[in-house]
Amino acid sequence: MSAQPTTATAFAPATVGNVGVGFDLLGHTVVSVGDRVTVSRIDEPAVVVRSDSIGVPIDAATNTAGAGLLRLVEDLRLPFGFDVVLEKGIPLGSGMGGSAASAAGAILAANRLLPDPLDEIGLLRYGMFGEEVATGSFHPDNLAPCLLGGLVLALDRDPLRAVRIPVPPALHCVLVHPQLRVDTRDARRVLPAQVCLADHVAQSGRLAGVIAGCYSGDLELIGRSLQDLIVEPMRSPLVPGFESVKRAALSAGALGCSLSGSGPSLFAWCRSSADGERVRYDMIAAFAAAGVPARGWVSPVAAPGARIEHEA
Ligand code: HSE
Repeated sequence: MSAQPTTATAFAPATVGNVGVGFDLLGHTVVSVGDRVTVSRIDEPAVVVRSDSIGVPIDAATNTAGAGLLRLVEDLRLPFGFDVVLEKGIPLGSGMGGSAASAAGAILAANRLLPDPLDEIGLLRYGMFGEEVATGSFHPDNLAPCLLGGLVLALDRDPLRAVRIPVPPALHCVLVHPQLRVDTRDARRVLPAQVCLADHVAQSGRLAGVIAGCYSGDLELIGRSLQDLIVEPMRSPLVPGFESVKRAALSAGALGCSLSGSGPSLFAWCRSSADGERVRYDMIAAFAAAGVPARGWVSPVAAPGARIEHEA
C-alpha cells in the first residue's frame, strides 16, 4: 500500500464564468493559464497561506485558497493543518476566475492529504467557501467548471449540483485580458436587484438556446443565442473599448462575444481554432486602438479542469 502523501501541487485553470447568457450558472475552463497551489501537511490544526503575488491577502480566513481549508480543518476536526503556497498565474480582478482557481487548486491538493478524501460534492462545497470569502457572493459558475472541467451548469446551493454539458468538439473560445482591473464586488454593485419579466423570458430563451445548441451540435443556434441582454449592458461601460472589441470579434467571425465573468476580460466563442486565432488578433488590435494593452488565449471550450501535478 502506498504511503499517504504529505504534500501535493495542483494546477487550476482560468474559467469563463457566466458565458454571457448564464449569469452565476454557466462557465467553462480555458487551457494554458491558471494558478498553481502547493499544499503541505503541518502538525498544528491551522492554515498558513504564502504567496509572492502582490495584492493577495495572506490571512487564511480572508484568502480564497485558505478559507475553504480552514473550514475543512474545523468541520472534520483534523488533528493536522495545511501550509499553502499560492502561485498566481491568473491576474487579479481580471474576470478570468482567479479566485475560484486558487480555491479549487487548494481543495484539490489538500484532498490528496486526507485519510478519507472528499467526494465531488465535498470538493465543490469547501471550494465554494473560499470563493465566497473572496468575492462576497455565492456564484459557482467559475469554481464548478474549474474543478470538473469543460462547460458546466452549476445549480442549487446546498448541495451544489454541477452538470457537465457536452460541447461540439470544434467549439473554441478566445479569452482576451486588457491590462485593467475590475473587482467582482464592484461589478456586482452595478447590477439591478430585479429584472422585468420580458427580459427574463428573452434571456432564459438565450440560455436554453446555447445549452440546446451544445447538446445538438448546432453552432448556428449557439451563435443566435449567445447574447447577454441583462448583465452586459450594465457592466460594459466599466471596460474602455468594449463596444469596438466586441464588434471586432463578431466581424472576424465569432459566434458571440461578451464579458468574461465580471470583466474586464472579454470572451468570444468561435467555430474552430483557426477562427479563434483570427478573432484573438482582431480583439487585441481593437483594444490597442482604444489605448489598452491586452493579451489573449485560444482554447477549446471543453478544456480540462484542475489536476494534481505532483505529490510526495
Ligand atoms: N458570475 C460572477 C459575476 C462571476 O458575473 O459576477 C464573477 O467572476
